[in-house]
Amino acid sequence: MKITAKTNICMIIGDPVEHSLSPQMHNAGYDALGIDSEFVYTAARVSSENLQKAIEGIRAMNIHGVTCTIPHKIAVMEYLDSIDEHAQKIGAVNTILNDHGKLRGYNTDYIGVIKPLENITEIKNKHVAILGAGGFSHAAIYAMLLKEAHVTVFNRTLEKAKELAERFGCQYASLNDIQKIENMDIIINGTSVGMETNQSPLDKNVIHKEHIVFDAVYAPYETQLLKDAQEKGTKTIHGTEILLHQGFAQFELFTGHKAPEEVMRKVVMENI
Ligand code: ATR
Repeated sequence: MKITAKTNICMIIGDPVEHSLSPQMHNAGYDALGIDSEFVYTAARVSSENLQKAIEGIRAMNIHGVTCTIPHKIAVMEYLDSIDEHAQKIGAVNTILNDHGKLRGYNTDYIGVIKPLENITEIKNKHVAILGAGGFSHAAIYAMLLKEAHVTVFNRTLEKAKELAERFGCQYASLNDIQKIENMDIIINGTSVGMETNQSPLDKNVIHKEHIVFDAVYAPYETQLLKDAQEKGTKTIHGTEILLHQGFAQFELFTGHKAPEEVMRKVVMENI
């Protein structure tokens, strides 16, 4: 045990939070770099009702870095001292850095969308379908527009797709508009369909070999959407990639060190 009175405390806050793999992922990284006396990462379940008090606590106790997850990514913004440009444009914060008493908000989720895609394809000028209009979709749309893709949001409730499309200046359509989805190059699932079930947001027949299918859902690891895509010989990206890549970027913000990616990946894959 290398923790001392000087150790910087980092943590994830959310509700629920018990399932989070962020503590294992970050602590394994500190260990690998031999900075586990400087940093430790833990988790706290914080209800929406207690969010403001929790942020006051972060200031009062000089907590070094905080990861925000559901349901706090939007609500937390009003309690911070500054919000970086990307987080501002996305409209959500997933990372808080305590910079000598000033709480600075960032968003690394969008990096978690870009990096895994860039590993297998060029994004520029690709036609990208974002399925869903919830919190994750904001970061995914922003990420794809930043990389100069042509983005269409598909949602079950068309009005919500329209709102998002107007906000970001992209296209929108109904989730039932199968032909439009067929014509896309990349499909990113930002709906909650497939979480802990064997349902898919898309009919299997919509997917073809030339698509790239990226599922933001990471539990189960192999979602029905990814299974269907793999059956067609389609390239796929698992939801764990978002967790990892947003985490790598966050690790660097918290510690100033480049994340030891393979070590962090190994611990996530062992615990998923
Ligand atoms: P988050 O903020 O985590 O992204 P959310 O805001 O609850 O989650 O958004 C969930 C998304 O999944 C929404 O786009 C939702 O569609 P609606 O806007 O029509 O509600 C989508 N979704 C959830 N269940 C769905 C289902 N059975 N079929 C299609 N879309 C679904």
